Amino acid sequence: MKILDNLDNRYQALQEIVKKELSYAAHDLDHILRVYNLCMLLAEEERDVDLEVLIPAALLHDIARRDEDEDITGEIDHAVLGAEMAGRILHDLDYDPEIIVRIKDCIKAHRFRSGFTPDTIEAKILFDADKLDVLGAVGIARSFMLAGEHGEKMHNDIPLDEYLEENVGPNGRIKDASKHTANLEFELKLKKIPERLFTDKAKQIAAHRIQYMETFFKILVGEVNGQR
Ligand SMILES: [Fe+2]
Ligand SMILES: [Fe+2]
Repeated sequence: MKILDNLDNRYQALQEIVKKELSYAAHDLDHILRVYNLCMLLAEEERDVDLEVLIPAALLHDIARRDEDEDITGEIDHAVLGAEMAGRILHDLDYDPEIIVRIKDCIKAHRFRSGFTPDTIEAKILFDADKLDVLGAVGIARSFMLAGEHGEKMHNDIPLDEYLEENVGPNGRIKDASKHTANLEFELKLKKIPERLFTDKAKQIAAHRIQYMETFFKILVGEVNGQR
């Protein structure tokens, strides 16, 4: 994996901190590094991107993921808590307070559901890069890793409206994770990602990755139904 070759010791220290905090398969350090790579790719196409903000934001964006996943109250939002945790980590590493504020803003706005809109180019790039990592071949692999974790079936060809009624709450939350599947996740959520992205490059990559996923799930359905 082509990653982090130009990072100085400060970023290596961040990487070690992130590695310690993230233990889940689909949100592990590899996800962080893929998002970092995508951020660098998207940044190449944009003007005035401050890498001093973008790189730490990419490395720390899911730092509170485990806290959210282990929170039985359902109240922890890893984007909001993550911004706070990142602030403390960066403060301890002697980052400039003004840069810390900008990094925290990127982390807070990296998630759909948190209610903060990315309003700087660094925040938009991080948002887009994070979303791209649930699409394409990586997206398929991640969906099945999560499916395995939650005891899901490999495939379910229930009509979408029936499924929505049966297992999806008003806020889009899946009621029973064991009834969910990768193809339903694709139909319900992943397909809609391109329209929510900010940068042109990310939209272009997303369209390509969605096309690939369409083909994959079509072949999967065919094979499940006994075709060659
Ligand atoms: Fe996240
Ligand atoms: Fe993420």
